[in-house]
Amino acid sequence: MRTIMHALDHKIMSKKLLHLISLLLFSFFTRSYSGGISIYWGQNGFEGTLNETCATRRYEFVNVAFLNVFGSGQSPSLNLAGHCDPSSGGCTVVGPEVEYCQSLGVKVMLSLGGAIGNYGFSSKKDTRNFSRYLWDNFLGGKVIGNRGNTSSYRPLGNAVFDGIDFAIDQSNSTRHWDDLARYLARYNRRGKRKVYLTAAPLCPFPSKYLDMALKTRLFDYVWVQFYGHTSCQYIDGNITNLINSWNVWSSTGYIKRLFMGLPAAKWVAGNGYIPADVLKSQVLPVIKKSRDYGGVMLWSKYWDDTTGYSPAIVNSV
Ligand SMILES: *[C@@H]1O[C@H](CO)[C@@H](O)[C@H](O)[C@H]1NC(C)=O
Ligand SMILES: *[C@@H]1O[C@H](CO)[C@@H](O)[C@H](O)[C@H]1NC(C)=O
Ligand SMILES: *[C@@H]1O[C@H](CO)[C@@H](O)[C@H](O)[C@H]1NC(C)=O
Ligand SMILES: *[C@@H]1O[C@H](CO)[C@@H](O)[C@H](O)[C@H]1NC(C)=O
Repeated sequence: MRTIMHALDHKIMSKKLLHLISLLLFSFFTRSYSGGISIYWGQNGFEGTLNETCATRRYEFVNVAFLNVFGSGQSPSLNLAGHCDPSSGGCTVVGPEVEYCQSLGVKVMLSLGGAIGNYGFSSKKDTRNFSRYLWDNFLGGKVIGNRGNTSSYRPLGNAVFDGIDFAIDQSNSTRHWDDLARYLARYNRRGKRKVYLTAAPLCPFPSKYLDMALKTRLFDYVWVQFYGHTSCQYIDGNITNLINSWNVWSSTGYIKRLFMGLPAAKWVAGNGYIPADVLKSQVLPVIKKSRDYGGVMLWSKYWDDTTGYSPAIVNSV
């Protein structure tokens, strides 16, 4: 009782303090609802370096794309188009750039898949073997100085990526993507650096390749590609299909943070391009009301440079 009275006495005196706290809470919550931009980098040699990409300060996530041959016993291979040649060891320069990006607070993901390549798993064992390859070559395994380091060749040097992005557009198997997510999540141990998982499913719902994987709830961020499929994209000034599809994706209950994935220019990615002013006036005000709204994903850095899309939207996402 005494403590209650005491507290009541203080209640009036601390009105100002309470006001301050509520202001802080308010700004915290409004901040947590604002989104970020996720960009794909790696498929065009004329899009600037990773350092330059991160130095723009416009991106919260950069997906290094793509590792596009793996699984079914194949020897994994990375494709960074005109940036560098991984087969001759020419891509290890990307490592320090990954670290530079991370020093600016950008999360850097290694992106698996893409429209071109050959990937898919033949069994759980095959999937597990590949998860181990990812850990040893791009995550916390076998980094110089780590225990158990065998100084094996790491295609992008010693940088430890923030995680793995599943951009599974096509594959000869729809199976085991959930297994891959589970195997990668096993590397999350107490006190160890977290391995983030992200995904870029195509917009037709449910995702042909990633439905089971997303249902594991192991994905931290999901950027749905709202392009290349008229049933779920913006068409000629009409936002109906786009918003209907967004609403389906945002009501699954198993996606924590949902991003609207868009082409950064009119003539790419099989259309679905939304002019930046339309995005800001008609689309963002609607999707930002979703509890799981995370921001906007753009394909790709190269196209973003040519149109200036992200500078036009960065203060509105
Ligand atoms: C296991 O993964 C490696 C890549 O680390 C690959 O070269 C090898 O063929 C895979 N082994 C099997 C049995 O699939
Ligand atoms: C990227 O920036 C980091 C930090 O400044 C630097 O160590 C690295 O050499 C840079 N890489 C390139 C290719 O400019
Ligand atoms: C997928 O393609 C690879 C490479 O062509 C092949 O080795 C593998 O057997 C195929 N997997 C399935 C499940 O069809
Ligand atoms: C927009 O698209 C929807 C779905 O395809 C259609 O039903 C509707 O009539 C369109 N609205 C306009 C104004 O064209």
